[in-house]
Amino acid sequence: MNEKIYRDADVDASILNGKVIAVIGYGIQGKAQAANARDSGFKIIIGTGRSAEDAKEDGFDAYSIADATKRADILLIELADPAQPPIWKADIAPHLRAGQTVIFCHGFNVLYGQIAVPKDLNSALFVPNAPGKFVREKYLKGEGIYGCVAVDHDATGDALKIALAISKAVGSTRAGVVEMSFQHETEGDNFEEQILYGGAIALMKACFNTMVENGYPPSFAYAKAIRSLRSVIDVMDEIGIEAYVSGGCSRTCEFAIRTRGPRVINEDAIRQIFAETEQGEFARDWMQEFALGMPTLHRMRRTGANSRMEQTGREWREKFGK
Ligand SMILES: NC(=O)c1ccc[n+]([C@@H]2O[C@H](COP(=O)([O-])OP(=O)(O)OC[C@H]3O[C@@H](n4cnc5c(N)ncnc54)[C@H](OP(=O)(O)O)[C@@H]3O)[C@@H](O)[C@H]2O)c1
Repeated sequence: MNEKIYRDADVDASILNGKVIAVIGYGIQGKAQAANARDSGFKIIIGTGRSAEDAKEDGFDAYSIADATKRADILLIELADPAQPPIWKADIAPHLRAGQTVIFCHGFNVLYGQIAVPKDLNSALFVPNAPGKFVREKYLKGEGIYGCVAVDHDATGDALKIALAISKAVGSTRAGVVEMSFQHETEGDNFEEQILYGGAIALMKACFNTMVENGYPPSFAYAKAIRSLRSVIDVMDEIGIEAYVSGGCSRTCEFAIRTRGPRVINEDAIRQIFAETEQGEFARDWMQEFALGMPTLHRMRRTGANSRMEQTGREWREKFGK
């Protein structure tokens, strides 16, 4: 790996001194990033639609999104991605001024043209690679979450410095931050969600269904399909896949992993999904689905909730614990 990794010592966050940083959206990421950046010594205000009370209880000055936009030098856009375009149009865009910096936490809306930051503002990205809960917990322990920064448009000449300073304020340079593009951050995230989350869940379901169809007790199939994975993922992350496979599991398991595992995976399908993601097909399908009120997802949620595997899971957790 010869990529440039930014750590605390490489980043001067004093560029944020005296600046007003408005966290727009006080949800999972907004709450964590606001708390961390405040604890790092910077001036944070919150721009929020429905969480003003929550933000005030946490000791922040809370404003409407329009007011926070006017007061800010730097905006951290921490709104849920589908909520961003209408809020941007109504409450943010009319109040922007030249020289401000807009920092997103996911590149989707910029990459796919749903939000266009005016060219006399900086447009950048900072993403910690974890949900807000972990971003906060790690910070409080003196640690940080690996993250990335990107600059889409540099109006003032210091957009990268500002994005890196924000990543330091939130604690990510304690672990390491890399620079990439809006495109890679967005498509990488969308690709991972399809392949890893989508693929792992499909595997668990296939494992459960095959065992039950062949007469296994559902509780046994459920334990095999889900619970067994839980502990091994952490071990593989901590010591590496090879150390786990050759030393952390049984020799039968090693043989099963090495000889049969690859047969389960369809690499052609993975490459096809990567290409579709790069060509914007995934984003187009998702935006269409969202605009229509998510009919496919509503239908699939109903089927999923009533499935044998889910019913078994509910009973399983009651009988055998979480
Ligand atoms: N969660 C993660 O694991 C994670 C990780 C990395 C990056 N990100 C990125 O961080 C950003 C924020 O994500 P999040 O997970 O923190 O989102 P979230 O908690 O689901 O929502 C964030 C805030 O968006 C506003 N919001 C949500 N739905 C709305 C609606 N229908 N109408 C109006 N406002 C709405 C609310 O702001 P108010 O409460 O202030 O009104 C809400 O608190 C996204 O760009 C996401 O891709 C998330």
